[in-house]
Amino acid sequence: MALSRRTLLAGAGTAAAAAAAGAAVYMVRRKEEQAAPGGPRVRLVVGADNSASRTVMWEGKKSAGLELRGPDGSVRTFEPVRAEHRSGETLFHLNEVRLEGLQPGGSYAYRIPGVLGDWTPFRTAGRGATTALLFPDSQSTDRYETWRQLYQEALRREPQADFTAHMGDLVDCGAWLEHWYDWFAAVKGGIERVPAAPVMGNHDTYDQNARIGMPENFLAAFAPPENGSADWQRWYYAFDSGPVRFLVVNTEWPESDSFRPGLLPEMKRWFREASKTSQPWKVVLMHRSAVANSIRGRKPRGPFSEAGRELMPLFDEAGVDLVVTAHLHTYRRRGHVRGFRRDASGPLYVVSGVAGNIRYNDFWIDSPLDEFVAPQPETDNYLVLRADASSLELASRLPDGSLIDRSVLRKA
Ligand SMILES: [Fe+2]
Ligand SMILES: [Fe+2]
Repeated sequence: MALSRRTLLAGAGTAAAAAAAGAAVYMVRRKEEQAAPGGPRVRLVVGADNSASRTVMWEGKKSAGLELRGPDGSVRTFEPVRAEHRSGETLFHLNEVRLEGLQPGGSYAYRIPGVLGDWTPFRTAGRGATTALLFPDSQSTDRYETWRQLYQEALRREPQADFTAHMGDLVDCGAWLEHWYDWFAAVKGGIERVPAAPVMGNHDTYDQNARIGMPENFLAAFAPPENGSADWQRWYYAFDSGPVRFLVVNTEWPESDSFRPGLLPEMKRWFREASKTSQPWKVVLMHRSAVANSIRGRKPRGPFSEAGRELMPLFDEAGVDLVVTAHLHTYRRRGHVRGFRRDASGPLYVVSGVAGNIRYNDFWIDSPLDEFVAPQPETDNYLVLRADASSLELASRLPDGSLIDRSVLRKA
């Protein structure tokens, strides 16, 4: 219990609270010699149009081009853009191929001679409907074994998923490579076929000493669609999948303002433009919850967090339908809110749950806005989002697929 409470302080607070709580002391680091670098960590990342684009990334100094086999059997070769990424003493050779102009609902396969020898299949999303798996915080102290089982089982149950979203705090400390090695080992077999949409969390920004720092490893790990920013590429972005525009918003300005100010105002300007779309649905994915919950034994807070106070007016203005968050390691449906009040015309707010083995049970005091809270103590869970032009369903599920909660939004 003591370990969990301290970890909570590191995970749930602001940068100052994390530092005050001495995050480094409580976060579990394996010895370097136990780290298994593995590699080359081939992964797919969502493109701006999930029906027509994908980014393939992998590690390796000398790799051949990527061969793509299309639905008609023809093969094209793409030379990767190469870059180096240094993390402590470790140098990574990164390769990246952005595939564009793909056929919606098309069956493709790719291979990378010397890296990924077998043809690995993937499918682009269709235009009319989409299915996505949304995974809450996967940060772990068990070498990501709990996370591995959840991710693999969810993909086995939803083999047609168009993408997986990772709602932030993918790892316990962003600077610790062994956590990334284990995270990527856990998703092996899935992430080569189903593209990932990463959302930055506060733990992804922690440095070698588990203090706030530039999230170099997170930024190197995933190349999501470009956002037009000179300073904040890969921090926030938008993409379409089926009838939904997904807006991936960054809530880590309390961290980043300490080393590079300006994330929030720039992102607000971007959001107003990126949220203009003819897509029927607009869904925001972000790490920190907009609604605040008080912690037992601590000063009350809420009803809204700083993230909520800053961003909810934008979501109202843009006509966002659904806001999915994470960070609290608990599944909570907040209901519809507009103008900081209960209002059926506002976006639906949902906190996604917990997907790693770090659980914050017995900490939260329910918010007056909580309409549904997952049965406590809470174990691992994930969300399945399905949308077509007229309905959007969000279901919270246990690893065995059984239902925790379900919301359905409809449009005329
Ligand atoms: Fe977390
Ligand atoms: Fe977090």
